Amino acid sequence: MHNFLEAAVVAARAAGELQRRRLWSDIDIQFKGETDLVTEVDRACEELIVTTLRSRFPDHDILAEENDYGELRASHRWIIDPLDGTTNYAHGFPWFAVSIALEIDGEVKVGVVFQPVLDEMFSAVKGEGAWLNGKRLAVSGRQPLRQCLLATGFPYDGTCDNENNLDHFCRFQLAARGIRRAGAAALDLAYVAAGRLDGYWECKLKPWDMAAGSLLVEEAGGRVTNHRGESHSVYDHRILASNGLIHETMLEYLTA
Ligand code: IPD
Ligand code: CA
Ligand code: CA
Repeated sequence: MHNFLEAAVVAARAAGELQRRRLWSDIDIQFKGETDLVTEVDRACEELIVTTLRSRFPDHDILAEENDYGELRASHRWIIDPLDGTTNYAHGFPWFAVSIALEIDGEVKVGVVFQPVLDEMFSAVKGEGAWLNGKRLAVSGRQPLRQCLLATGFPYDGTCDNENNLDHFCRFQLAARGIRRAGAAALDLAYVAAGRLDGYWECKLKPWDMAAGSLLVEEAGGRVTNHRGESHSVYDHRILASNGLIHETMLEYLTA
């Protein structure tokens, strides 16, 4: 597993360095939807990551946000968000990350989330633990919810239907110490793993938003489920990740 982890770290660092270099420069921005953006940096980072991984593992599948790499049928699948936090990046708000995970036979085994501005590399290997720049991570021991700091996000198409997360946001805002909407799901998860946040929920996410981060949380001793408390799959759209201690209470709010 360690050569996979090392490859993911190398690719994430290369993409993150590109992001840091181009931050606050004049970049080309396009629209994927009415509010959903993509920048030339997202695309360049994806190309860099995919080229790096493919040169080492030509037989592995790639599932990444900005391009279709063909049918997925190999046992090994890289799940890549080349730039998580694109809206932040496009606005010059320096909160974004690279997220790379490796799924083997349907199970996420390796995950890295790299925040290039703070030079923070979060990494995890299934069954072995999670680390931040080499230091072992553990979720917080905080409870009850009233003393907890939570995070969430809102879908790009929030005006299309009722699943806009505003109801849950209002409920948690009244119940917790505070809520942050920082704009990068992979970092929200990494922060739960690091004990900097106590819980995080979101809906309408994609596999690349969650794959690496959910492994980080589990390997740091936290709990990850869907909004009904069932075991989480990165192909679910809804996620609840927590330090474990406040999980049942958060589920009650999500199902109320
Ligand atoms: C988005 C971010 C954001 C979350 C959105 C995601 P992107 O990813 O993770 O925090 O609320 O749902 O789509 O588009 O910046 O890679
Ligand atoms: Ca994302
Ligand atoms: Ca992205």
